Amino acid sequence: MERTLSIIKPDGVKKNVIGEVIKRFEEKGLRIAALKMVKMSKDDAKGFYIVHKERPFYESLTSFMSEGPVVVMVIEGENAISRVREIMGATNPKDAAPGTIRADFASDIEHNIVHGSDSKESASYEIPYFFSALEIK
Ligand code: CDP
Ligand code: MG
Repeated sequence: MERTLSIIKPDGVKKNVIGEVIKRFEEKGLRIAALKMVKMSKDDAKGFYIVHKERPFYESLTSFMSEGPVVVMVIEGENAISRVREIMGATNPKDAAPGTIRADFASDIEHNIVHGSDSKESASYEIPYFFSALEIK
């Protein structure tokens, strides 16, 4: 069993696709082990995306991620990290495979609806960023 952190980004919440995104994970046999809605401050978003601090999109990305509420969840299952990434689709919706969340709902490379940890190392930073052990069941 593996755990990963996923976020329905502010654009996904605004587009009313929270249920749709969760359904796509659940129907593939992945289990929601923790879930809540939060509004990040700019600094919260900067800390979450600290690995990207040198990238040209860091400022814009962290403003976007703190502009409205997000839904954060811990998803559990066999190979959950790579399976969630597969269901999400490529970062740029133009490159995302048909039927993926990003192909179906994302408007551009920044506003791409959903986040998923990209490795065990990222998951072990990202999960406790939002959830205590007691909140994961
Ligand atoms: O989210 P993912 O792991 O697929 O992509 P990333 O390379 O880790 O980038 C994190 C997030 O930054 C993306 O999901 C986009 O929202 C944003 N981004 C962007 O605005 N412009 C880029 N050229 C690349 C990423
Ligand atoms: Mg990433």
